[in-house]
Amino acid sequence: MKFKLMYLMLAALLMAGTPAMADSQEEMMNQFIDQLMAKMTVEEKIGQLNLMPAQTITTGAEKDSPLLKLAAEGKLGAILNMKGYKDILEAQEMAVKKSRLGIPLLMGLDVIHGYETIFPIPLAQSCSWDLEAIEQGARIAAKEATADGICWAFSPMVDIALDARWGRIAEGNGEDPWLGSRIAEAMVRGLQGNFGKENMMACVKHYALYGAAEAGRDYNTVDMSHVRMYNQFFPPYEAAAKAGAGSFMSSFNVVDCVPATANEWLLTDVLRKQWQWNGFVTTDYGSIGEIIKHGLGDLQQASAMSLKAGTDMDMCAEGFINTLAQSLKEGKVTMLDIDTACRRVLEAKYKLGLFDDPYRFLDPRRRASDILTPAHRQAARDMAAKTFVLLKNDGKLLPLKKQGKIALIGPMADSRINLSGTWAPTAVPDKYITLKEAMEQALKGKAELNCAQGCNFTNDQTLQIAGGFYHQTPFGDAAKLKQEAIAIAQEADVIVCAMGEEAEMSGECSSRASLEIFDAQKELLEELLKLGKPIVLLIFAGRPTVMTWEQAHIPAILNVWFGGSEAGDAICDIIFGDKVPSGKLTVSMPQTTGQEPLYYNQLPTGRPVGEGMDSFAKFSSNYLDVRNDPLYPFGYGLSYTTFNYSDISLNGRTASVTVTNTGDYEGDEIVQLYIHDVAASISRPVKELKGFQRIHLKKGESQEVKFEITDDLLKFYNAHLDYVLEPGDFEVMIGPDSSLKNMKKTVLTIK
Ligand code: NOJ
Repeated sequence: MKFKLMYLMLAALLMAGTPAMADSQEEMMNQFIDQLMAKMTVEEKIGQLNLMPAQTITTGAEKDSPLLKLAAEGKLGAILNMKGYKDILEAQEMAVKKSRLGIPLLMGLDVIHGYETIFPIPLAQSCSWDLEAIEQGARIAAKEATADGICWAFSPMVDIALDARWGRIAEGNGEDPWLGSRIAEAMVRGLQGNFGKENMMACVKHYALYGAAEAGRDYNTVDMSHVRMYNQFFPPYEAAAKAGAGSFMSSFNVVDCVPATANEWLLTDVLRKQWQWNGFVTTDYGSIGEIIKHGLGDLQQASAMSLKAGTDMDMCAEGFINTLAQSLKEGKVTMLDIDTACRRVLEAKYKLGLFDDPYRFLDPRRRASDILTPAHRQAARDMAAKTFVLLKNDGKLLPLKKQGKIALIGPMADSRINLSGTWAPTAVPDKYITLKEAMEQALKGKAELNCAQGCNFTNDQTLQIAGGFYHQTPFGDAAKLKQEAIAIAQEADVIVCAMGEEAEMSGECSSRASLEIFDAQKELLEELLKLGKPIVLLIFAGRPTVMTWEQAHIPAILNVWFGGSEAGDAICDIIFGDKVPSGKLTVSMPQTTGQEPLYYNQLPTGRPVGEGMDSFAKFSSNYLDVRNDPLYPFGYGLSYTTFNYSDISLNGRTASVTVTNTGDYEGDEIVQLYIHDVAASISRPVKELKGFQRIHLKKGESQEVKFEITDDLLKFYNAHLDYVLEPGDFEVMIGPDSSLKNMKKTVLTIK
C-alpha cells in the first residue's frame, strides 16, 4: 500500500474545517495527483494512457501483448478483456508491487447486460420502459463484475439507431433521444452508484453518432447536420455526461469527416466545454490505428492528433505508447497535453478508490457470494418478462393453458448458447436453462411437451456459421429436422414456435441487408400452418424483424428479443399467464427492409402523405410498392388486458388523461406523452416522445395520469444551435403508442 499513508494524511488535513465536502474531496484528489505526477517520468505518464487486451475474451482483432511485463515496467494504465480473479490479481500485483511507482491498473470489460447473471439485451431492456429495473440491472451487473475484479464497464451504449440493418441496434436503447437519455442516466446511476466497492466506472459509448452508419453497415461513414446531432443524436450522451459518467469511449466513425477519436470539436468543445464534463476519454478498440485507414496520416500523426483532440487513453492501437515520446521531442504534442490526459486517468483510479486499496475489487469472499445469486437471477427474470412485446394475439390465444399437448418447435427451442444474446462475453451458459427445460418445469404433471428443432437457422450454412461467431450451432439435416417437427406438431393441440436470429446475428459487425425471418424458418412456419393448429410465434432477435407475412397468418406473436440467462423461465411466466405482458417497442418495426431507416420522430416533408394512408399518392413522399407506416409503430405493445384512454384535459401546463383497465386481467400500461411544435424557426419532428408513466391497474380500475409540460420539453436547438423555447402552438398527444390513430390530442399555446 504505497499510497495509503499519503492518501490518509491528505484526507485528515483537508477534512479539518473544510466546509464543502465535495470541494474538499476534489482538492484532496488534486493534491494527491500533483504529488504523484511530480514523481512520474514522461514514459510513466504515457504508460498510464495505454490500454491493452488480455486473451481471455475476444472483442477485437487479437493481439499478443506481454501484459505483465508492461505492467511491471509502468507502461500500462489499464487492461481489458481479462476475466478471472486469479489472473486479475496477478496483473494488479505486478503493477502495484513491481512497477516503480506502484500505480494500480484499471480493469475494464464489456459488462453490457449483466456479468454472469445475464439480463436481456439493452434494446430489450429499453422496451420495459422501467427505469428503476434498468438501474437495478446495472447495479447487479456492477456488483457481480466487481466481485470478480473488474472495475470499469464499457457501458452504457447510448447511440441512437434508426436503421435496423445495423446489428448494434441490439446494444442501444432504440430510436428515441428522450427515452434514451433517461435510460442513459439510469445506467450510469446503476453502474457507478457512489463509487463504493460494489460499483464500477461507466464508459459511455460510442461518442458520437456511431448508430448513424450509412446503410446500417457497421463501421461505415456517418454524416449529418449539426442541428440534427444536437436535437436527435447528442441528448443521450449529454444526459450520461451530466449524470456523472466517469469515462467516455470515442467511436470508430468520422464526424464532419474527422474520425471521432481525433475530433477536437467533439471531444473538447462539445463534451468538455459545452457539457462541462470532466472524465477521461478512451478510444474504441484500435481506433487510433484506424485513423491511418481513414486517410489522415501515419500512426504518429494519428496519435498526436487524438491526444490533442482530447483522447486520453489508447485502446489497443499502441499509438500513444510507441509514438508520443517522439512527438513530444518534435513538438507535435506538448507536455501539457500528456499531463492533462495522464491526470484524467489518475483521477479515474482515484475516484474508484484504487489508490486507497488497489485490491478493492479483489475480495475472494465476494467472488463466492455475490455472483449469479438467486436474488440476481430473480431480478433478471422479472426484468425479462417486462421486455417481451406482444405484437399480436388473435382470439386471445395467449396465455396458454397448462394442459393438453404442446409442441415446441424451432432452432431456439432448446438452444442454450444463444439465449443470452450478443455481448454477453462473461455468460456461463451451462448454468442457464433452455426454453424447453423451462417449459418442462412449468408444465410438469399438467401438460405434455414435445420439442423439435425443426430447421436450421437458415438454409445458408455459410450465413449460419458467420452468425454463430462465438458459439456455433451445428448445421443439421434439413429434411430430417422438418420431419421430426411435423410429427410432433400433428399430435399437438397448440404449437409454440421459437424462431429468429442466432445471438451473434446482431451486435458488432452483424449488419443485415434483409430483416425477414430466414428462409428455413419461414418454410417451416408455412408447413406448420397447413396443419390448421393454433400457433404462437416467439421471435428471438436483436433487432426489429420484418414480419408482414407472419402478422397476416400467425395468430399470436410475442417478440422476446434475447432475454438473458433467465429467458426460458421468463417466457413461461408470460405465455402461461403468470405475468401479463407490458413491453412496448422502442424501435419501429418495418413492413419491409427497404423502409429503413425507419423512425417515428421524422421531420415532415414538403409533400407528406398522412399517417395511415393506404394507397400510393403520386408526387408525394411515398413508395410505389409499400406504404410509409411501420408494421408495428414505436411505443406499440399489447397486453392480455385492454386499456381505455379519456380525452386530454389541459390545465395550464398540466395535461392529464384517465386510463381505465377494461379487460380481464390486471396489468401494467405505459402511458406516453408526445409533443409537436406546430410552427418554429426550423422544421421540427412530426411528434416527439416527451414523457411516459408506467401504471398498474386492476380489472375495472381507473387512474388519472398527469404530465407537467415544462419549458425543457418544448425546447430545441435552433439553426444557430441555441437551445430555445419558441412561443406558439404545441400539439400535445397522449396515448398507448406513437400512432396518431390511438392518441388523444389537444393544443397548448405558449405566449
Ligand atoms: C469494440 C466495440 O465497438 C466496443 O463497444 C467495445 O467496448 C470494445 N470493442 C471493447 O471490447
